[in-house]
Amino acid sequence: MTSTEFLSDSPAATEAFAAQWAQNLQADTAILLEGDLGAGKTTFIRGLARGLGITEPIRSPTFTLIHEYTIQQPPHLQGLPFFHIDLYRIETPEQIRTLGLDELFERMGITAIEWAERLRLLGVPLPTQWGYTVRLFPEGETRRRITVHPLRLEVSETGYSRD
Ligand SMILES: Nc1ncnc2c1ncn2[C@@H]1O[C@H](COP(=O)(O)OP(=O)(O)O)[C@@H](O)[C@H]1O
Ligand SMILES: [Mg+2]
Repeated sequence: MTSTEFLSDSPAATEAFAAQWAQNLQADTAILLEGDLGAGKTTFIRGLARGLGITEPIRSPTFTLIHEYTIQQPPHLQGLPFFHIDLYRIETPEQIRTLGLDELFERMGITAIEWAERLRLLGVPLPTQWGYTVRLFPEGETRRRITVHPLRLEVSETGYSRD
């Protein structure tokens, strides 16, 4: 998939966009969400989960750090894990290591990470070579500009890159 941009006028529109976008994801994909508090990262992930057929309520894993769900659709992803990770409280590379990201990514699912810029700031490489950066920019009370960029392939050696 290529880069895309979407202007959302409501949380429902953000969810609907993410749900639709999720249909084209492949196994073993990281989705790195960047944006300030209240930008809509969790809302976007709620849409992703809905698009992947997950019906459980999606709440930010602020204290547990990782939530795991099982993907129900589309057929080519069915049964794979969907991980929702929030790095908001992470302050050191050590803390990231204790999350065991390597083991999560070995399971070939879809992994959505809030505050993913912490990986880059802390110099921690992402243990997968395929994924997207999703950035959410508030442009008013209910308006969000959402940009989606594929990660570059060299990502796993150097930490992920900005484009
Ligand atoms: N277009 C929009 N898309 C997403 N969230 C929106 C939008 N407009 C308003 N909001 C509000 O912004 C907040 C986003 O919260 P949340 O998704 O938890 O953000 P984050 O996880 O980035 O901190 C919610 O209160 C939501 O209702
Ligand atoms: Mg959040």
